[in-house]
Amino acid sequence: MSTDAATVATAASLRPLRADPEPAPPLAVLLELTHRCPLSCPYCSNPLQLVGVREELSTEQWLRVLEQAAELGILQAHFSGGEPTLRKDLPELLRHARAHGLYCNLITSGVGVSRERLQELQHAGLDHLQLSIQDSHSEGADRIAGYAGSHQRKLALARWCGELELPLTLNAVVHRHNAERVADMIELALELGAGRLEVAHTQYYGWGLKNRAALMPTRAQLDAVTAVVEDARLRLRGRLTIDYVTPDYYARRPKACMGGWAQRFVNITPEGKVLPCHAAETIADLHFESVRERSLGEIWRDSEAFRRYRGTGWMPEPCRGCEHRERDWGGCRCQALALSGRADTLDPVCEKSPDHERVLALAIAEASAPAPQFVYRRMRATTANLAAED
Ligand code: FES
Repeated sequence: MSTDAATVATAASLRPLRADPEPAPPLAVLLELTHRCPLSCPYCSNPLQLVGVREELSTEQWLRVLEQAAELGILQAHFSGGEPTLRKDLPELLRHARAHGLYCNLITSGVGVSRERLQELQHAGLDHLQLSIQDSHSEGADRIAGYAGSHQRKLALARWCGELELPLTLNAVVHRHNAERVADMIELALELGAGRLEVAHTQYYGWGLKNRAALMPTRAQLDAVTAVVEDARLRLRGRLTIDYVTPDYYARRPKACMGGWAQRFVNITPEGKVLPCHAAETIADLHFESVRERSLGEIWRDSEAFRRYRGTGWMPEPCRGCEHRERDWGGCRCQALALSGRADTLDPVCEKSPDHERVLALAIAEASAPAPQFVYRRMRATTANLAAED
């Protein structure tokens, strides 16, 4: 522990920590309907071990999950994947979610969705669509997606959203290969009529971690992107909302990952496992329960995996005595494991972590070296899975 960290810890560690006898319900549930996806993005956030089509929850099981989500007090259902539109029962799921009072958002690659299909989803209950873009132009975008023609298909889908008056958010993942075109991506969001744009630097979990050196921006690129975003936020106030996610490795304070472990969001995998975040399965000593065996509400309230890092009671020093502990909730458990070897230690993004300088040096070294080739997320199973469903 550093001297600064020890001082902060001593000052505040005697204060009682908040107990969490009955957690408030999550705000939102992320329903990962399938891991199948037509794209091969090198920063894919799905786990390294993908779930095959035969292991996915059935329509009936997802319908029950939606009922349980509403009972639990969840307000938003985010239908995600993989590519969720590959599930033929998506309209039925949307209808059911809407009937139970859930706000329905679709998180999609936009590839393979026709105008008719979009209209069908809207009639079924879709409230909002979130579309990923990989770059401002086809060449760069298709290269990242590993799919020729994907960018043009996304643009078509975005325009149909405008025609159908379906609210649209664009999600742009930023890295060393497209950082110079963030201003163009903002222009593209305006041109497509999006109400919101999320500019998110790549998060290095799972597959993204494999491609960290290929994706890591330099400090100068990061600063330039931040300046572009800050300027656009002021200039476009009232026309376009821009959310900005900075890259962890250059930060001094950790982010409140998922709004705090098991506090605001819950993730359900295609096979029904209930997770506090999309990367939680990397923490090997946690057991994640399934909606096949227990209700969502019971798992949220009681499961050991959710209780383990909820709140502040689990925290080591200096997190336990830190004035930010109920703002950042100790940062990201999955990142602590990936970079410091333990999930129950400090997120090394925090400047109080003994690993902070090492992680920063690693980012600087990787960003300044020539970028290696991407390791694409080729889902060898995808073709077989799609064939199986057909
Ligand atoms: Fe798992 Fe941050 S991704 S806690």
